[in-house]
Amino acid sequence: MSDRKPHPDKQTLDSTPVGWKPSSWTRCQMDKPFTYPDLKELEAARTRLAQLPPLVTSGEIEKLRDEIALAQIGKRFILQGGDCAEMLAECSSAPIANKLKILLQMSLVMIHGLRMPVTRVGRFAGQYAKPRSSPTETKDVEGQPCTLPSYFGDLVNQIDFNEQSRTPDPFLMVEGYKHAALTLNFIRSLLEGGFADLHHPEYWDLSFFNNASVSDQRRAQYEQMSRTLADGLSFMENLGEQRVEDSSRVDFYTSHEGLNLFYEQAQTRQVPRRQGYYDLTTHLPWIGERNRQLDGPHIEFFKGIVNPVGVKVGPTMQPDELIELIDALNPSNIPGKLVLIARMGAGKVADHLPPLLDRVKTEGRTVLWMVDPMHGNGTTTSSGIKTRIFDDILKELEATVDAHDEADTILGGVHFELTGEDVTECLGGGSGITEADLSKNYVSLCDPRLNYQQSLELAFLLTSKLGQS
Ligand code: PEP
Ligand code: CO
Repeated sequence: MSDRKPHPDKQTLDSTPVGWKPSSWTRCQMDKPFTYPDLKELEAARTRLAQLPPLVTSGEIEKLRDEIALAQIGKRFILQGGDCAEMLAECSSAPIANKLKILLQMSLVMIHGLRMPVTRVGRFAGQYAKPRSSPTETKDVEGQPCTLPSYFGDLVNQIDFNEQSRTPDPFLMVEGYKHAALTLNFIRSLLEGGFADLHHPEYWDLSFFNNASVSDQRRAQYEQMSRTLADGLSFMENLGEQRVEDSSRVDFYTSHEGLNLFYEQAQTRQVPRRQGYYDLTTHLPWIGERNRQLDGPHIEFFKGIVNPVGVKVGPTMQPDELIELIDALNPSNIPGKLVLIARMGAGKVADHLPPLLDRVKTEGRTVLWMVDPMHGNGTTTSSGIKTRIFDDILKELEATVDAHDEADTILGGVHFELTGEDVTECLGGGSGITEADLSKNYVSLCDPRLNYQQSLELAFLLTSKLGQS
């Protein structure tokens, strides 16, 4: 076992493996999740995408990496959240503004409760590609079974079940890029224009909890928090956030699953006066649970980029495999580079997370541990609706905090699928969404998301739990 220490020298951040190029992943022999049938069109789309300006800058990416490095040592907390999958058709003002608002409000609850700065990372401006368990889907069409490619998200193909829609279309990458740019442009304008001005009373008003069907004890806690949050502006200043007068400059970062490597590759470049290759589609790309094979194309691509990178870590991950994965993605043990997003499922945390925490700690690997309490807790109702139960999500959060306490390691962030809208996709929470309510406003075409109130409640409950630990 080696005893690696954090990398001391910021000048040597370029850890591009010898001979690595943004296209190296294409040589990987493993089956790709999907293929483009028309290679000429693919080349044309990639060439176009490679000419377009970047969506984010290297300076922003480095700032996020520094903030992740602080979260690793318990001096910051990372809040990551947004839709399971963004849809091109839903790129419009209200959902974007509402997502910013809920993330901002959750972050205030956390800043207040944890007494430390919070970095906000949206699952937005590029979360258009979805991993699938099976590359194909079979349905009955006019009495005959018909097999077509699965829907891989709007960056790859379209959801309608017909051959034309389901055939991967490379120009959707250009469309995805454009919609990501429109989304980011609106986010940046909102933030510049004072949307996140923390003097906005609505950010501090959590009185809607009074109407919720929560226990008396919990309601008293919410009321107490509402009162103290109202006095909370000084926390922001004391905790090193920008001065409140400058709060229109509150930062948000972007993230998405880097599933479609053609898309990521086309925007991966060297930047003047910096070393290494930056993936400029987003600040924080991550590798999903289904695509993290050590010899797979995703690990091959991600090991060459300078961005901080996330990896989902589910219950099948073994300690040896995790160390190999860490060493592939962050061989120089650079702080702020690697984010492990544990997504075990509520009932599996106690058995599966501790051996991973212990091993990473014993071997001196520098990582940020986060928790995604969503993806291990999917369930289907008796009438066949995909949902998640609020109490399972909470259980996973609590069990993860306990596991970190026991291992004496740091939980530095949380990853939610959420929306700022009043959807009815997850069961439970203070407003008591029941199975019968699910059909009222179930909008997601992928995984069920927490609604506005459920999100805020979980921010509060996680913060209380962390406060006790
Ligand atoms: C996701 O984050 O949308 C996802 C599919 O997660 P996972 O890879 O953890 O299943
Ligand atoms: Co999802």
